[in-house]
Amino acid sequence: MSSSFPTPAVTSRLPQVGTTIFTVMSALALEHGAVNLGQGFPDFDCDPRLVDAVDAAMRAGANQYPPMAGVPALREAVAAKIAAMYGHAYDPGSEVTITAGATQAIITAILAIVHPGDEVIVLDPCYDSYEPNIELAGGTAVHVALTPGTFEPDFARIAAAITPRTRAIVINTPHNPSATVWSAAQMAQLAATLRGTDIIVVADEVYEHMVFDGAAHQSVARFPELAQRSFVVSSFGKTYHVTGWKVGYVAAPAPLMAEFRKVHQFNVFTVNTPMQHGLAAFMAEPAHHLGLPAFYQRKRDLFRAGLAATRLRVLASRGSYFQCVDYSAVSALPEADFCRFLTTEIGVAAIPLAAFYQGGYEQRIARFCFAKKDETLQLALARLARL
Ligand SMILES: Cc1ncc(COP(=O)(O)O)c(C=O)c1O
Repeated sequence: MSSSFPTPAVTSRLPQVGTTIFTVMSALALEHGAVNLGQGFPDFDCDPRLVDAVDAAMRAGANQYPPMAGVPALREAVAAKIAAMYGHAYDPGSEVTITAGATQAIITAILAIVHPGDEVIVLDPCYDSYEPNIELAGGTAVHVALTPGTFEPDFARIAAAITPRTRAIVINTPHNPSATVWSAAQMAQLAATLRGTDIIVVADEVYEHMVFDGAAHQSVARFPELAQRSFVVSSFGKTYHVTGWKVGYVAAPAPLMAEFRKVHQFNVFTVNTPMQHGLAAFMAEPAHHLGLPAFYQRKRDLFRAGLAATRLRVLASRGSYFQCVDYSAVSALPEADFCRFLTTEIGVAAIPLAAFYQGGYEQRIARFCFAKKDETLQLALARLARL
C-alpha cells in the first residue's frame, strides 16, 4: 500500500537470495498445466491413522505449549527408533529435540555453533538453505564439489578445504538432489578425515528411510566417533508424507544439544503440541517407517521403467525420492532453459541441477521427484515419451 511516510531502508542480511528455482518452476507448472515433478513433496495423502492420532490429541486437550525440547513421548520414540536402527542410545531428556522441520533444526544447529569468521564446508550440489544459514551466523560457506558424474564425496578435496577456522561440515545422505547414498566405508573415511579436529558434523538425514535395493542408511549415529561430534537431523514430513506439518527432530551429544537448545528456546521455543502427540502414537508401530524403502522403491522402478523408453539417460537413484536424468541426447540447452522447455512445451516440471551449485554448474542434468501417485507418474511419462 502506498503511504506518504517513508519505510526505512535496510541493508539485506542475505543480498544474494532471490526467488528460488522451486518457486519459479512451480508457478510455471501451474500456469502451463504441467505435471509438477519439480518440488519435493508427495501429491498423495498421509496414513489416516496419523490424522486420527493428531485429532485425538487435540480433542484430549493437548493444545497448549509442550516442554521446550518437545513432548517427552515423542523424544522417547525418536531415541528408541535411532537405537533400534543405528545402535546409538541418545538420552531423550538431554540429547533429542523436536523441531519445526529439518529446516529449523539445521539453521538452529548452525547458529548454535558458528561464530563470525568461522568456515563451514558444504558439498555441492546441496540443499539451498545451508549457505544462507551459515551467512546468517556470520560464517563463510566453503564449497567442495562432490565428484562430477558420480556425486561421490572426494575426501582428499574435503581434507584440503579444512583450515583452522573450519567449524563444521554439512553432509546429506541420502542425497538431494543426486539420490546417492553414502556407504559405510565413506562414513569411516569421513571419521578419519575429521579425526584430530574440532569440526562438528551437521548430518542432514531427512531421507533416512528411503534407501533402496536392500542397502542400509549409514547414519552418523552408527559410527561412535562421528556421533560424538554430530547433530543428526531428520524430518517427520518426509517420513510420514506430511511435509506441510513441518515437524522434525535433531539428536546430538548432550554438550552440543545444550547449545542447540539455547538457540531453539528463543527461536521457535517449541513445536506444535498435538502433532507431536500424534506422531509419538504413530511411531509406536515401526512398520510405518520400515515399509518406506519398499513403498518408494516401487515408485522409483515404475518411473525408471517409463524413462527407459525415452532418450533421457537415467542416472542411479539409490536413495531419497529423486531421480536425475542426463538430457544431452535430447537437447543442448542449459539446464534452466531445458527445464523451462520441459515445463512449458512437454508439460512436466523438473529442477535444473545447476540450481544446487554455488554459481551454477552445467551438466545437462535435471531432477525429477517421484513422490507422486502412480497416475501422476504415468501422466508425466506419457508426456516425456514425446521427447
Ligand atoms: C536435503 C533436505 N534437507 C532438509 C529439507 C527440509 O525438511 P523439512 O521440510 O522437514 O524442513 C529438505 C526438504 O526438501 C531436503 O531435501
